[in-house]
Amino acid sequence: MSKTDCSTCTSRRSFLASSGVAFAGLAAAPAFATLQGCGENEDGSTIPPLSAPITVSLRSLNISAASSDSSFADSSYPYKIIVRHNGESQYQAWSSYCNHEGCEVDYVGTGFDCPCHGATWNAQGVLKTGPATEGLLQFVVSVSGDNFTVSNP
Ligand code: FES
Repeated sequence: MSKTDCSTCTSRRSFLASSGVAFAGLAAAPAFATLQGCGENEDGSTIPPLSAPITVSLRSLNISAASSDSSFADSSYPYKIIVRHNGESQYQAWSSYCNHEGCEVDYVGTGFDCPCHGATWNAQGVLKTGPATEGLLQFVVSVSGDNFTVSNP
């Protein structure tokens, strides 16, 4: 389980204001990496998006049966990605990031639960109960042969 304590995080906006960086470019890039998951995205969401699409082997996910689920990790994204197979060629994928304090949620068959403080989401990732304040980030899924690719919506 990965957890981010955002009480010490800095939003992208306040980071830029306090550092005086008006986009110095490469010198600021490492500092931006530490802000992932703590600031606000342009759409107002606080859920970290993918830095680039991720492709894994569909076979490796072991979700060939309908109504099966799995998860995988990738070094380019700090949270596991939860995958569900709903039927023939119907796949869905979500970030496991809970926007309350950054714990990773679990898929529990009828929806998602956060083990840290009890937030819940329905089977489509829509928030049911807090303290989280956002639905889960659902990725766009494409499948080509054995290539299973997730990308930002
Ligand atoms: S981190 Fe998920 S409910 Fe608190």
